[in-house]
Amino acid sequence: MLKRIIAPSILSADFAYLKKDIEMIERSQADWIHIDVMDGRFVPNISFAFPVLKSVRKHSKKFLDVHLMIVEPEKFIIPFIENGADLITLHWEASSHLHRNISLIKDHGIKAGVALNPSTPVSFLEDSIQDLDIVLIMSVNPGFGGQKFIENTYKKIVETKELIERKNTPTLIEVDGGISLENASKLYDCGAQVLVAGNTVFTAEDPEKMIEKLKQA
Ligand code: DX5
Ligand code: ZN
Repeated sequence: MLKRIIAPSILSADFAYLKKDIEMIERSQADWIHIDVMDGRFVPNISFAFPVLKSVRKHSKKFLDVHLMIVEPEKFIIPFIENGADLITLHWEASSHLHRNISLIKDHGIKAGVALNPSTPVSFLEDSIQDLDIVLIMSVNPGFGGQKFIENTYKKIVETKELIERKNTPTLIEVDGGISLENASKLYDCGAQVLVAGNTVFTAEDPEKMIEKLKQA
């Protein structure tokens, strides 16, 4: 069986009680924590950045998965690394010089990923897949938690898996947006290995148990 990683997105956490939510994630079977950074330019919403990442790092031993939904991400790669990121994922649509940005991240000894919006084809990664630790397939239009899953995602996961196999790279496939117990097992079957979940985890009566269920779906 392929590796299964659950990455709860703290975008849906209660920020007044963030430590409590981080402690829940620490106890849970989650492997990663997904950190959604939004700038009000690349996406029509603003979330949070360095102080929150720094605080999460202080209280967590999990792998910190930083998803940058920002224009000109190259301006902020170093401070995100300094504040505790283990992985930085940039948007293909926001990077004019993808190769340079990916190299900058990897030269600092952390993992690098590229995210694709729902309408961006997988084939656009043909010449960069060999450099990527992660491909993040967006299954909603980025900007908000709690949106409806886009069905075309399954096909894109299969295409990404084919590309990875053809190029023989160890790249992981991550999926983000609208993930629930309804679609998790089909996502794994298509080849996804990392599932991000915000709303599904944080609105659950027992979030810790929900993480376990998503992992075993
Ligand atoms: C959307 C973010 C997601 C979001 C997922 O722009 O990238 O990570 O937090 O939230 P849910 O699981 O609620 O769709
Ligand atoms: Zn995200």
